[in-house]
Amino acid sequence: MLFPRAAALLFLALAAALPARAAELVLSLAGQELRLDTAALLARPDAASITIPADVAYAMAERRYRAVPLRALLGGLQGVETVEAQASDGFASQIPGALLRDSPAEPWIAVEDPAAPWPALPGKAASAGPFYLVWRNPAAGDVRPEQWPYMLARLTAVAPPLRRWPQLAVAATLPDADPARHGAEVYVTQCLACHRMKGAGAGEMGPDLGAPMPALAYLTEPGLRALIRDSAAVRTWPGRQMPAFDEAALPPAELEALVAYLRHQAGRR
Ligand code: HEC
Repeated sequence: MLFPRAAALLFLALAAALPARAAELVLSLAGQELRLDTAALLARPDAASITIPADVAYAMAERRYRAVPLRALLGGLQGVETVEAQASDGFASQIPGALLRDSPAEPWIAVEDPAAPWPALPGKAASAGPFYLVWRNPAAGDVRPEQWPYMLARLTAVAPPLRRWPQLAVAATLPDADPARHGAEVYVTQCLACHRMKGAGAGEMGPDLGAPMPALAYLTEPGLRALIRDSAAVRTWPGRQMPAFDEAALPPAELEALVAYLRHQAGRR
């Protein structure tokens, strides 16, 4: 009975050693589509080795990458309001054009070299490659965890989410100071990449939190808060994917704004 086990181990060893493959990053800005492959990106004269001291995808560990400055790659981003960053796992983040273009935080596209593959992501079988949007000096631009898309496949210039999908917005009659207004922005930045809202959004990873039944029609508010802070503390299974949002990722006031927004969305049909 040794043989199947040995074969399985050999298979695992081979699978672990499988080289990362060259890939294509699609840029779709100003109506034209540009396809850049791994070799072309690595060969650019502005490709550099950069250090990311607290890497969001790799549990805040320090990591080094071969990377290309996104601003140079995208040619200025003038007039781009929002960039949709689509990943091959169904994640689709809406990143403000101004953050990518003008912020003191600097966006870079890390490129996985098939000759030097990256480690698997914590808890996953695959690495963050073939392309990963990383930030130098992220605190200076208040860059959020869901603005570090990995397994990146495509960057597309799009309209700002609240204009593109009116059902994301709160009722116009809501007072300016109502926390649900701020909650809508928090939702767009931190949740929309995985969870649509009444059909709004481009993500495919998690359930829509507005329809068919809004999340707060079947979850309690304390249960919702606990699930956002650490979903494994509420329920768990091996395929669980919902990230934990600690107070650094989502300060208490933002969590409350988010709950107010989901309550507001549950009250509107
Ligand atoms: C990286 C993707 C991702 C992000 C970002 C994310 N979630 Fe999730 N979430 C999931 C997935 C996937 C599930 C399904 C359960 C699982 O796999 O853990 C889930 C489940 C949930 C559920 C349970 C829904 C149900 O009907 O069972 C709620 C509520 C929820 N998420 C809220 C949020 C909120 C609020 C945010 C923003 C602060 C957020 N999630 C951000 C991926 C994500």
